[in-house]
Amino acid sequence: MLFRHITHLLSLACLLVGVTTAGPIKKRDADFESVRTKLDKDHSGKGGDPRSKYFHESIFHPHYDGRFAGRELTYDEKRESLPDLVRTYLATMGNIGAETWLMHGSLLGWWWNRKIMPWDSDIDVQVSESTIHFLAEYYNMTVFRYKTPSVPTGKEYMLEVNPRYTIVDIRDKLNVIDARWTDMDNGLFIDITAVRPNETARAEGNAGALMCKDRHHYQEEDIFPLRDSYFEGMPVKIPYSYAAILEEEYGKKSLIKTVFQGHRFNQEKKEWEPVRQGFRQHA
Ligand SMILES: *[C@@H]1O[C@H](CO)[C@@H](O)[C@H](O)[C@H]1NC(C)=O
Ligand SMILES: *[C@@H]1O[C@H](CO)[C@@H](O)[C@H](O)[C@H]1NC(C)=O
Repeated sequence: MLFRHITHLLSLACLLVGVTTAGPIKKRDADFESVRTKLDKDHSGKGGDPRSKYFHESIFHPHYDGRFAGRELTYDEKRESLPDLVRTYLATMGNIGAETWLMHGSLLGWWWNRKIMPWDSDIDVQVSESTIHFLAEYYNMTVFRYKTPSVPTGKEYMLEVNPRYTIVDIRDKLNVIDARWTDMDNGLFIDITAVRPNETARAEGNAGALMCKDRHHYQEEDIFPLRDSYFEGMPVKIPYSYAAILEEEYGKKSLIKTVFQGHRFNQEKKEWEPVRQGFRQHA
């Protein structure tokens, strides 16, 4: 195994029990053999991916890491694992002092009821450019062990930074995800993208222009100052102009339409419920 155990215990959040971290950085990617936990076989799409692509999604679904997963989770399994995934991520970032905020589908879920939308199978967050440098420098390949309500014996999550995060060029299309927070038990992950100054736009006089490698662009005042809120019961940061950001990305209807993806929003309970009894959806 690539990891070495750190003896100190981190105190934040009752969940956290310990941390392991990588040895000296090696000049190769974190292949199956170096990170494998329980699988006998690598299910990553690495073989079919272009060489320049760093993160390899699984061969069976783009929202799983095939080094840790051999199958898609069921609707109920996902609904149990995703909140733990985001809680442990937020606890860790809070603990190491790394600023992060919700974006995309996770921000929309926050808008409705401060939760992950039940049909979602991924979570999207952003960090600033200085934070991605910090994570790359000190926490790449760090494994964090947490006790969660569903796994009281503890389970492991890994923070992995794409070495191509330093390439700030939207033509590097295969590496728009700058880092991932991955559940080493089932391969679910959080996509972490860095928001950086758009130097071209700034040179043209747009002082607050920001960009991500995935081509999303913002103004500084859209995101900052970040707002404090809660998500899945944990403290979280939200971009300042969240409604405008959501409307631009998903349209005005996304903020008012109460039937979506086979679910209806129950205003009283503040929950998305499957429209049909027994309905189960794989996103
Ligand atoms: C993180 O570690 C992996 C495995 O050693 C390595 O392939 C990758 O280049 C590292 N990322 C950064 C940003 O150094
Ligand atoms: C950066 O700004 C330039 C000039 O406004 C624009 O053409 C380009 O699309 C922007 N890049 C991104 C990734 O937003």
